[in-house]
Amino acid sequence: MAVPFIDLKRWEPGLQAAWQKKAAELSEAAQFIGGPEVSGLEADLCRETGARHCVGCANGTDALQLALRAAGVGRGDTVLIPDATFWATFECVVNVGADPVTVDIDMKDLQMDFDLFVQAVKTHKPKAAILVHLYGWASARLLEFREFCAQNQVILIEDGAQAFGVTYKGESIYKNALLSTVSFYPAKVLGAAGDAGAVFTSNDAYAERLRSLGNHGRETHYSYGDVGWNSRISSFQAAFLRLGLPHVAARIASRVETVKAYRSHLSQLHCMKPPEGFEENGYLFCILMDPAQRPDMETSLKEKGIGFGNVYPGSMSSQKGAKPYLKAAVGGDNARKLSASVLNPPLFPYMTPSEIDEVVQALRPKAAPFVA
Ligand SMILES: Cc1ncc(COP(=O)(O)O)c(C=O)c1O
Repeated sequence: MAVPFIDLKRWEPGLQAAWQKKAAELSEAAQFIGGPEVSGLEADLCRETGARHCVGCANGTDALQLALRAAGVGRGDTVLIPDATFWATFECVVNVGADPVTVDIDMKDLQMDFDLFVQAVKTHKPKAAILVHLYGWASARLLEFREFCAQNQVILIEDGAQAFGVTYKGESIYKNALLSTVSFYPAKVLGAAGDAGAVFTSNDAYAERLRSLGNHGRETHYSYGDVGWNSRISSFQAAFLRLGLPHVAARIASRVETVKAYRSHLSQLHCMKPPEGFEENGYLFCILMDPAQRPDMETSLKEKGIGFGNVYPGSMSSQKGAKPYLKAAVGGDNARKLSASVLNPPLFPYMTPSEIDEVVQALRPKAAPFVA
């Protein structure tokens, strides 16, 4: 049986019908921009996460750019980012006119290395840093990052594109961040019917700036306090996300059940686990393989029709597109090692026991069969 890496069509019963009804209502009312669906989504997300403010926007990349701009990061400023992340984290720094410095990762949690980060702050005196919460958990040293940045006047932005539903010590990871972002790209844990994103902040002034910058820097309809751009979230996306929100806990529970099955049935492989204190959201499952053996495993998975990912196949500092912009790369080679060894098996909500078993058998043919 073939198993895709991700299946976006595992909807809860009734969800498609509810969406079609909602889409018809919004169309008939010509409710396309702003309005109650957008303000309702922002309120729902604040309630769900405990964040003080939520500002919806066009996508997770814009969310990062809005956060940087709202915090006053721009031309000539240095911004630290991890060397292992999605390209948007690099891109957003360059797009606001700032200079990215990459910091290597800690192989224990695959997130930015805190000790190297401290060293990089001392050497490069950044105005801001972006800590990325990758794979469905975050750094074991999250609180140290927050505290160190607060004490050293480094504006800390947390890229939580992949982290919807992740909790740390029982609270949403977004709640206690100065500025954090989320992507609602359809393949994310809470996905829209297209592109969408949001920024969370605990700071009232940042919230006001975020809202204005994502709407052309407007003060009133035809007066502009700054140069922003159009990054409004569409009412359709907001409405779709609001229909998905009541199901997100079940989607996460199902993802996490698969993650636990993989971990217990693939215990001979090097399977990553979140650091202590985190409840993961099951966004991705990470197996670290011997790079010499990974190609054979991938060939075998392809032959069996099992989808997989290598998230991410290259570090930021090694990208061709980074060359003209990269100010410095701090640390060693861990991000590149991760790229050469990471293998992500299929993971999406409501995988069936036979699909899970098929993946388990493909990755470890002698494993005991998975029974739900
Ligand atoms: C870590 C990270 N940052 C930023 C983004 C960008 O989000 P979007 O695709 O919504 O622009 C993504 C999306 O994959 C991501 O994984």
